[in-house]
Amino acid sequence: MTREDLNIYFNPKRTAESFGDYLMMQAEDKEAFHCALSGGSTPKLLFDYLAQQYKFSPLWNKIHFYWGDERCVDPDDNESNYKMTKERLLSKVKIPEANIHRVYGENDPDGEAIRYGEELMDCVPVIGNKPVFDLIILGMGEDGHTASIFPHEVELLESENICEVATHPTSGQQRITLTGPVINTAHEVAFLVTGAGKKEKIAEIFRQTGDWQSYPAAHINPELGILQWFVDEAAASGLK
Ligand code: 6PG
Repeated sequence: MTREDLNIYFNPKRTAESFGDYLMMQAEDKEAFHCALSGGSTPKLLFDYLAQQYKFSPLWNKIHFYWGDERCVDPDDNESNYKMTKERLLSKVKIPEANIHRVYGENDPDGEAIRYGEELMDCVPVIGNKPVFDLIILGMGEDGHTASIFPHEVELLESENICEVATHPTSGQQRITLTGPVINTAHEVAFLVTGAGKKEKIAEIFRQTGDWQSYPAAHINPELGILQWFVDEAAASGLK
């Protein structure tokens, strides 16, 4: 991974805003723009910015939102990534309901992993036997997880399934996650990572030192697509 993939901004807000402008620019020249979203703190800032800066954008008619991972909870549960996105963005812009493809967290997890995979195959352009997203937005946890692929379940990086049921290592909460091969098939993957708590992991991943190979985020590298990191100075401070 080269440092050219690394975009560094002053703070989380500037990181989210710069990425927000980038995202909308990517959607401009597409007939339809299929984008998988992430949960987490930086996406919250991203959604607030998009809702304010692009409130009346016509681009919402062609942007389709999916989730790279979702907690297996009801859509009105405070743990739901969909709920967070709806409160901060979807309820504030004119995006057609048909363009919002949420994971049914209220369903039985095993059945929903299959159903959501089928929905992705129906709605997202397919190459071979995988849905190919225009853009997948990912965060990274302090343990190096991404989407809901955690270090104790690295086999999800190689699963042949489109979605899998994952388990949070400490809470035991079940989640539906895209698998590694689907993420690595995307036209573009963008990590949104901010805060000093991530600096060690980012330094290890970019320098390929320490336990970097045990971090799921280190194994995200689209075969034919683009990988970019949008980070703030605190998260990048371990690279100085
Ligand atoms: C989730 C996210 C998860 C998140 C990381 C980073 O459902 O929680 O998809 O993968 O991106 O945990 O979260 P922070 O940015 O809040 O540290």
